Amino acid sequence: MLLQVNIRIITNKCIPIVKIKIMTVEDVRIIELPKFLDARGNLSFAEQHNHIPFEIKRTYWIYDVPGGEDRGGHAFRENQEVVIALSGAFDVEVDDGVNKKRFSLNRSYYGLYIPKGLWRTMENFSTNSFALEFGSVEYSADDYIRDYDEFLKLKKDGKI
Ligand code: TYD
Repeated sequence: MLLQVNIRIITNKCIPIVKIKIMTVEDVRIIELPKFLDARGNLSFAEQHNHIPFEIKRTYWIYDVPGGEDRGGHAFRENQEVVIALSGAFDVEVDDGVNKKRFSLNRSYYGLYIPKGLWRTMENFSTNSFALEFGSVEYSADDYIRDYDEFLKLKKDGKI
């Protein structure tokens, strides 16, 4: 007699559920940095995980922007940023594929927090303006989405 034994292997392996939070322009916000006003000159500062809501992996800055030039014009898959107008003034437009919001930066004690997955453009740079940016990931060309139609599709499909 042939005894047939059916063995069911039950694993208790966890299948990770990857949840992606889809960022919108409502997640962009101005962070007010500390400021010490002093007759000798003012001082402001920013600390990671405190005023800056992420670990700072990179710092970059934009300067000597000729009149009428724009910067940005892309989205990041992962990189979060805080942008500060250390000197002068400029506008940052953020776009989530549905809505857009424009922020005018002109004080060195305001940082603009831009989460990942948003299209951003920087424009209307005043003479001698100086934009300081903190980033949450190291530079990688692969982190950029530079094609607006691709950005819209990724956004629509809930991929960024
Ligand atoms: P990019 O981010 O496109 O500038 P913006 O958004 O201000 O218009 O960067 C311009 C160039 O600089 C790009 O070719 C890559 C290089 N780059 C780095 O090598 N490392 C960096 O951390 C950044 C921000 C840019």
